Amino acid sequence: MTDQAVSAPKLETDVSQLRCIACGAVRESDATNVRCAQCGDLLEVVYPGWKTSAGMRAAGLDASALKELWRQRRTSYNALDESGVWRFREVLPALSDWNHVITLREGNTPVYELPGCGRAAGVQQLYAKHQGMNPTGSFKDTGMTSAASFAREGGFRWVACASTGNTSASMAAYAARAGMRSLVLIPQGQITWGKLSQALDYGAVTCQLKTDFDGCMRVLDEVVQRMPVYLLNSVNPYRLEGQKTAAVELLERFDWQAPDHVIVPGGNLGNSSALGKAFLEMKDLGLISTLPKLSVIQAEGANALVRTMRETGGKKLISVHAETMATAIRIGTPASWKKAVRVLEATGGAVEQVSEVEIALAKAEIGADGIGCEPASAVTLAGLKKLVKRGFVKKNESVVLILTGNLLKDPDFTLKFHRGDLFAGTPQEEEAESVLTPRQRAPMVLDASANTVVKVLEHAERVEPRE
Ligand code: F0G
Repeated sequence: MTDQAVSAPKLETDVSQLRCIACGAVRESDATNVRCAQCGDLLEVVYPGWKTSAGMRAAGLDASALKELWRQRRTSYNALDESGVWRFREVLPALSDWNHVITLREGNTPVYELPGCGRAAGVQQLYAKHQGMNPTGSFKDTGMTSAASFAREGGFRWVACASTGNTSASMAAYAARAGMRSLVLIPQGQITWGKLSQALDYGAVTCQLKTDFDGCMRVLDEVVQRMPVYLLNSVNPYRLEGQKTAAVELLERFDWQAPDHVIVPGGNLGNSSALGKAFLEMKDLGLISTLPKLSVIQAEGANALVRTMRETGGKKLISVHAETMATAIRIGTPASWKKAVRVLEATGGAVEQVSEVEIALAKAEIGADGIGCEPASAVTLAGLKKLVKRGFVKKNESVVLILTGNLLKDPDFTLKFHRGDLFAGTPQEEEAESVLTPRQRAPMVLDASANTVVKVLEHAERVEPRE
């Protein structure tokens, strides 16, 4: 880190370990291998020093001391404190040298009320935590600052990921900041131009493979076996540690009273796993007394987790051939499914799936509240409506939607929506026309005359008077 760093003494609580989620094999943290050496399953970071918060107390870091410390850091100009991830470094794996941290001042994202969306869904207290307000426009930055810093500490020259677009944009930026090279594998023709252009701008070596996301992941798994390249997909346990902090921030924003429900889009299922891990850890450490129910929403065409829960009770993954216009979550074999199942069970959350038309409508509704997001994020509102109808979410309960990506990530979708082209020639064309037309605002081409514009204004006021 070129910015002024902090010198923090190493505490007993800093010692973290990597533990396999399947066989339980444990080893001290190191940045090199992201899978279990015994059985090949995913690893997670655990903190034996916490010992159900006794370790934290011994280090003078009980719940109220932590809350105060994290709040105070908001007024600091120290680079680590300015980051909404590293501000919470007591609950993250420690680097041996804090100067290895690569930060773009990620995190510290806003929480907004969503009054219009709340009415549409039938709930009284609806909020969005907008992770699309991160430096590269998606939630990936919070995990990337952490995992990329470990790559730097491990001395790697190359980092790599397979991506539906946001991970690659984020990874390329963080690698560039640290002078590392980055390799991006993306499914050809299946990621948005906005995301692709970010990876190029940040200097990534970008390969568009003739396959889908799951195919890119398979190729990359082989590449990292053969080359000294550090894998930065969310199978990397350090990614999830950084992503945890969105949940910690959210709890801080609600004065450590957990909302009743938190709703997340599900793709590769790293994010739901990370947020759930944070809620459980915050409860273990005594920072909150109740857990929010964490629910995961998928597109109908990419519904591996929904099917896994409904058809096998979460015991065996059902892979699907993924197809959805919400390209960020077009994933058929989610890597972190076991972690996500555990979070659903531990928090009592639900799964739900939503159609393409439901996603498009929800996205327009989030836009109409003056917020906006990319299509994958809008599944949260579409899913909430269904959870309310099912009676799983009650009218008077508080709900937070995690919006994962910025509106500007996918302008193509938004333009097609407003021009009425999104579903043209598809089996949903008729349904889309009746449901979506009232929300469409196609841009008009007019003569350059004030009279014409005034007429448009008067017409708009007549057909849609202010409430
Ligand atoms: N929302 C957005 C905007 C995403 O980019 C992704 C995943 C998700 C939701 C799903 O999160 O995978 O943790 O369940 N994007 C990845 C990528 C896969 O490559 O950018 P998840």
